[in-house]
Amino acid sequence: MATGKTFYIETFGCQMNAHDSEKVIGTLEQQGYAQVQDEAEADLLVYNTCSIRDKAEQKVFHRLNDYKKFYKSGKRFAVIGCVAQQEGERIFEKAPYVSLVAGSASYRKLPEMIARLEAGESRITGLDDRQTDETFETEFTSRQNPYRGYITIIEGCDKFCAYCVVPYTRGKERSRGSDSVLEEAKRIADLGYTEIQLLGQNVNSYKDSSGKLSFAELLAAVGQVPGIRRVRFTTSHPRDFTKDIVEAIDAYDTLCDHVHLPVQSGSSRVLRAMAREYTRDWYLERIAWMKSARRKISITTDIIVGFPGETPAEFEETVELLNEVQYDGVFGFKYSPRPNTPALVMIDSISEAEKSLRLQVLLDRQREIQRVNYDKHLGETLEVMVEGMNPTRGQVTGRSSQNKPVNFTTASPIAPAPGSYARVKVTKTFPNSLAGEAV
Ligand code: 5AD
Ligand code: SF4
Repeated sequence: MATGKTFYIETFGCQMNAHDSEKVIGTLEQQGYAQVQDEAEADLLVYNTCSIRDKAEQKVFHRLNDYKKFYKSGKRFAVIGCVAQQEGERIFEKAPYVSLVAGSASYRKLPEMIARLEAGESRITGLDDRQTDETFETEFTSRQNPYRGYITIIEGCDKFCAYCVVPYTRGKERSRGSDSVLEEAKRIADLGYTEIQLLGQNVNSYKDSSGKLSFAELLAAVGQVPGIRRVRFTTSHPRDFTKDIVEAIDAYDTLCDHVHLPVQSGSSRVLRAMAREYTRDWYLERIAWMKSARRKISITTDIIVGFPGETPAEFEETVELLNEVQYDGVFGFKYSPRPNTPALVMIDSISEAEKSLRLQVLLDRQREIQRVNYDKHLGETLEVMVEGMNPTRGQVTGRSSQNKPVNFTTASPIAPAPGSYARVKVTKTFPNSLAGEAV
């Protein structure tokens, strides 16, 4: 490998992956590597991959195929993340110029793997999967987001929903100790961050490894770290969603008034087939807790349409659920069969065209709901955290505590800095954003 030691990293997928990359970047920098933004300049190219939906593994191989020429010029490739864990050593067969394959449960061994790579070894693997009890804690995190500090509090997943690849790619569920989480929160606050996002595949399944705090108590504690103004958490699982989470949001204004609570389907029959471990009524009870809170809590969700065997009437139950909950946002997905998952043996009975149709119906309905929901903000004054500028429209962009995008103009000729706060009067609403003026 050339001297000077540079790396390029590209990240696909969820916030967990984005934050893993921050930790991988920090670890590589600790090993003497400098990050570059151009593949052509890098000695080491790292792809942090996602395999949650679609034919992700094929996309990765397709992508890697373009890079044979780079290998010849001495560059080395590492494939990490969910596709790496899922495909394992098959990656070396299909893409022989890849030198390192590692899943997220092995990242704490990265320094050792990098040393072997530098020693000229090829076919280095870190494929710990469900065996490991360790979490990837490191103080070398290189935070790439200038205004939001991510903290992983729980890794992996033990839920085994029938459609989901995560339990196989990210290993078994393991939580950090609350002391270490709080220390990291304080470190982030000292760096000047005012917003923290707690991360976990099922963030609210958190079980303090030191046995001190419940998830709701941890939320409250992070919300009281001096300097922290906003605490977000994602993603919550309905099965482990307890009332004290709502009570904590009510008690501490620093906890953002937004909960992302994926429902996946509005039909109890489909939920059972998905092995979600709750019914429609059970889910709606959690929604009722949030709706009766003192603060108005914004609720968003994930939905899968076209799960094997979903009838038109069952799909209709999902649309009905949207009407009932009146979500502020819905991420809708067409079911896609994933390797290793229990649903793989179920016949993927619904045609692609029908899945697309259902998704369209769902998203059209949701757009109307959001139009009404967002319109309710007209005339309100909201606290907005600045994220950037949209120069073509001459607007500052940011987010409300409820995580709604707010675009606004200011009287001042100097654009406010990312991470600063503004009070914005809402003068116009859209189904996905708000617009206004700084006051
Ligand atoms: N097919 C379609 N959507 C899926 N999701 C997870 N697995 C699949 C799959 N096999 C969706 C779920 C989850 C979100 C992150 O991705 O809605 O909440
Ligand atoms: Fe996947 Fe279900 Fe675990 Fe979420 S809870 S990561 S959907 S298995």
